[in-house]
Amino acid sequence: MSDPENMFFAIGSVVGPHPFPMMVRDFQAIVGYEAKEQFKALNDGKLPDMCLACVGGGCNSLGLFTAFLDDEEVQLVGVEPAGRGLDKGEGNHSATMTLGVPAVLHGMKCYTLLNDKGDPAAVHSCASGLDYPGVGPQHCWMKDIGRVKYETATDDEVISAFFELSRMEGIIPALESAHGLAYAMKIAKDLPKGTKLLVNMSGRGDKDLDYVCDVYGEKFGIGKEGIFAGPPKND
Ligand SMILES: Cc1ncc(COP(=O)(O)O)c(C=O)c1O
Repeated sequence: MSDPENMFFAIGSVVGPHPFPMMVRDFQAIVGYEAKEQFKALNDGKLPDMCLACVGGGCNSLGLFTAFLDDEEVQLVGVEPAGRGLDKGEGNHSATMTLGVPAVLHGMKCYTLLNDKGDPAAVHSCASGLDYPGVGPQHCWMKDIGRVKYETATDDEVISAFFELSRMEGIIPALESAHGLAYAMKIAKDLPKGTKLLVNMSGRGDKDLDYVCDVYGEKFGIGKEGIFAGPPKND
């Protein structure tokens, strides 16, 4: 910040000025191309009905979605943080697509959460990688043309999903990734039987265990020792 002539900080997401969003998207898109092939191999050549991924700056979601953009029958859903609640105001969520307005941030024009003074707003999410007041420009375009739908998940829904996947599958998801999972779990029960959802697990939750157990352990009935203390009594 003190030496803008000689320094440039490239954030590791699909954000900032061209060509950074394009570079990050193209490198990360390999995940989506591989997921598509693997999904087809496991499902008699069929594509998923819906792909879901969390959206902070937007790179893991574009990494997944890019391979499916031309498959119009595949619904694409980005899930951003509603944090403590969308109605709780500034500093309590990070729902850029849902509540942001067009502005210029970090060298790009994008939907942005702004405060009363017109500066980037304070943001919150239980997932440290999602608390960003902007979002990649391609996502903004995808929202405007309606190719990707943007939804939200609250911290509580995310923590529930984090525990559920850990217990049921032995996969501890990153709190970021658990946003896509939480929304998938919320809607799955109302979808026709056999609907196939592909959820991007962008990272591992080992990094989040201390935080989850410290902050949410008692609320979710596992105590501060965490999920390693064994299953809850009513399981
Ligand atoms: C595991 C994980 N997933 C997702 C994200 C969110 O970033 P993006 O929306 O750019 O994928 C982060 C950011 O730090 C992350 O650590």
